[in-house]
Amino acid sequence: MPQYVQGVVARAKGEPVRVETITVPDPGSGEAVVKVQSCGVCHTDLHYREGGINDDFPFLLGHEAAGIVEQVGPDVTDVAPGDFVILNWRAVCGRCRACRRGRPQYCFDTHNARQRMTLADGTELSPALGIGAFAEKTLVAAGQCTKVDAAASPSVAGLLGCGVMAGIGAAINTGGVGRGDSVAVIGCGGVGDAAVVGARLAGAARIIAVDIDDRKLRTARELGATHTVNSRTSEPVEAIRELTGGFGADVVIEAVGRPETYEQAFYARDLAGTVVLVGVPTPEMTLELPLLDVFGRGGSLKSSWYGDCLPSRDFPMLIDLHLQGRLDLDAFVSETIALDEVEDAFARMHKGDVLRSVVIL
Ligand code: APR
Ligand code: ZN
Ligand code: ZN
Repeated sequence: MPQYVQGVVARAKGEPVRVETITVPDPGSGEAVVKVQSCGVCHTDLHYREGGINDDFPFLLGHEAAGIVEQVGPDVTDVAPGDFVILNWRAVCGRCRACRRGRPQYCFDTHNARQRMTLADGTELSPALGIGAFAEKTLVAAGQCTKVDAAASPSVAGLLGCGVMAGIGAAINTGGVGRGDSVAVIGCGGVGDAAVVGARLAGAARIIAVDIDDRKLRTARELGATHTVNSRTSEPVEAIRELTGGFGADVVIEAVGRPETYEQAFYARDLAGTVVLVGVPTPEMTLELPLLDVFGRGGSLKSSWYGDCLPSRDFPMLIDLHLQGRLDLDAFVSETIALDEVEDAFARMHKGDVLRSVVIL
């Protein structure tokens, strides 16, 4: 029987989002219905509302979520009703060239639920990143559900579904931060702070947090940054070099998504160091670098998409570390809110007042 639940819908470009009644069909083959328990508010949800991702309105927003599997369709074997799961936005195919070559992070053929959830008048909804979890229940592909230890609180578990995974993964997966490394993180919002936490988990000896906002630097320090640089008042490349014996950092993570901060990251790394771009640029942004500097400095320039994560490997591992007290995820939850407060939370996020607002259902 289809179910009628409440969900946060963006009907048209730039219009405030509203809670509406949506219809969730029974799961078909390879699909699951998840009772959502928590869903974080992420910049990407706002980008959807602003028409910055595509024009497939109306959107059912929310994509950073944890919950309980309620029903599964035929042919679903990996998860079962009652499982506590974190949702991911990349259910991989296992068959494409990237998957076969052992790089499912770059799968060309990720999938979502085949059926669509709808509005009361039958209009099909586009779920944000194929998830749509600002809703009491949502329909996803079973491969988007990763079972984790149910002892974890949903409010923090859901964060691993997007921003926190992106940041931790940028450090440990893409950046390959190792014991004793020096790491600089430029931009300490939710993603950059998670990169700080990832660098600490990986055993970095020195973690330099860079931001233009002292409030952000204080939080970064609480989460494990050993040094902070306010790049409004000091030149960040010089400051990072000074803090690393004149060399530059082994790994520099850019978590803003702007040409000038990427350029800083490029020059703040040690010879043969690694630069990781995790901040998302806009289509018109470009950066010009002297080719001789690229040549002369060696090392690698990388981008990190979804933290190069493998949900089935990384989500349970990070939840285990969290439950053992080795990974502070609670610090990322600035506030918990109800479904009808998402629009207000967008405003706070835009002003930089919160790391994460988390909808609790
Ligand atoms: N130099 C240093 N820090 C800066 C600068 C700058 N020029 N401009 C902005 N910042 C800081 C902000 O003060 C803020 O702390 O960057 C941080 C950005 O954080 P958030 O806006 O909270 O964004 P976040 O969720 O962390 O995402 C960062 O990663 O995944 C992407 O789309 C996401 O591009 C975005 C980026
Ligand atoms: Zn997100
Ligand atoms: Zn694939």
